[in-house]
Amino acid sequence: MPATVVVGTQWGDEGKGKFTDLVASEMSMVVRYQGGHNAGHTLVVDGQTFSLQLVPSGVLYPHVTPVIGNGVVVDPRVLLAEMDMLGTQGVDTAKLRVSGNAHLILPYHQELDALHERHLGKNRLGTTKRGIGPAYADRAMRVGIRVQDLLDEKIFRKKLGAALEHTNKVLTRVFNRLPVNADEIAEEYLGTCAPRLTPHITDTIGLVHDELEAGGRILLEGAQATFLDLDHGTYPFVTSSNPVAGGACTGAGIGPRDIDRVIGIAKAYVTRVGSGPFPTELFDEVGNHFVDVGHEYGTNTGRRRRPGWLDTVMLRYAARVNSLSELAITKLDVLDQLDVIRVCVAYEADGQRHDQLPYHQSVLHRVTPIYEELSGWGVDLSAVTKRSQLPAEAETYLAFVEDQVGVPIGMVGVGPGRHQVLRFAS
Ligand code: IMP
Repeated sequence: MPATVVVGTQWGDEGKGKFTDLVASEMSMVVRYQGGHNAGHTLVVDGQTFSLQLVPSGVLYPHVTPVIGNGVVVDPRVLLAEMDMLGTQGVDTAKLRVSGNAHLILPYHQELDALHERHLGKNRLGTTKRGIGPAYADRAMRVGIRVQDLLDEKIFRKKLGAALEHTNKVLTRVFNRLPVNADEIAEEYLGTCAPRLTPHITDTIGLVHDELEAGGRILLEGAQATFLDLDHGTYPFVTSSNPVAGGACTGAGIGPRDIDRVIGIAKAYVTRVGSGPFPTELFDEVGNHFVDVGHEYGTNTGRRRRPGWLDTVMLRYAARVNSLSELAITKLDVLDQLDVIRVCVAYEADGQRHDQLPYHQSVLHRVTPIYEELSGWGVDLSAVTKRSQLPAEAETYLAFVEDQVGVPIGMVGVGPGRHQVLRFAS
């Protein structure tokens, strides 16, 4: 059975976790394919809140095998802490599988992330400082250490020594810091982490293909989002992996023909954390409304997210680069109290209209959004359980978005709870 991808269509924090959780209930396996613990989502199940960073969403269902794919960067200390936390909440993580080919985040990656950011000063990217970029950089430089290296002390120490030869020079000579001690890292990673992670480390590519061949249903879970993609996002204000649907192929070890459904998650407004261009950004009362009512503060970092109106130019681009088969709209209820709802349908720059994302980023930095105004519905949607109960204005809004993006809407979120989702027949 072909696989399904869930991908963010904006700058992350679209509420992917909730839909991933919902779709995961119908799957036999859920695979995270990129990113690391820079991601974070919260699931509310029967009043209990679960915070996940690395462990795939499907972990809450006993029938699902959660898999951390080869495209993910793993800090084993964070992973173990998350597994412990889930354990105290009554969630069994024994079935979790971690790709031996995934790369490790080491303590010096985190230190370098913070140092690079400080070095960039006002040009900083606003990273999560979790070491994600430096870990992927080491992977590309071929000095990364993989999860499978935890299984062999000699290899781990050898690779660590080789990596530190370069890294310690950078730390001491460029950043004027103390060198990192290889033995301390080896002690923690080999002594504390490896014994606990060993039963979970495996060939996840074989596992995924066995599942596909056996007719299992696989969900490929993206973290971050299209506009944070290293290739397709607002470079350099992006993350260092490929959240787009194509990244699911490389990050899980499958080919494009094994995917037949791509669900693009879009929030009914837009937020962004960190630096970078944001055409529909708001600095007014409506923006504060999105932040306050939508609780737009980072799950991991606590940072206030930058708010803005929904931007369908972005969504058209996301539809193209991800080959979206459907949209899932989250947090529609956050718009409940607005009299007028604006939707960006195009940009204007230098007297020219742009219906598609401008190719040159300097143009994106100076565009002015062109908005259409729609009427609000003034009704609390949080208790709506069926599409037929939606007020006419909400239906009009959704139909307008579908028409602008050219992709049907399959699901709509109207509250944080697991069941506050309307499913539309597609
Ligand atoms: P990094 O992924 O920590 O290197 O951060 C690079 C950029 O991606 C920064 O602007 C971060 O704020 C952003 N970012 C990374 N992960 C997330 C996420 O899960 N949600 C939203 N933004 C994120």
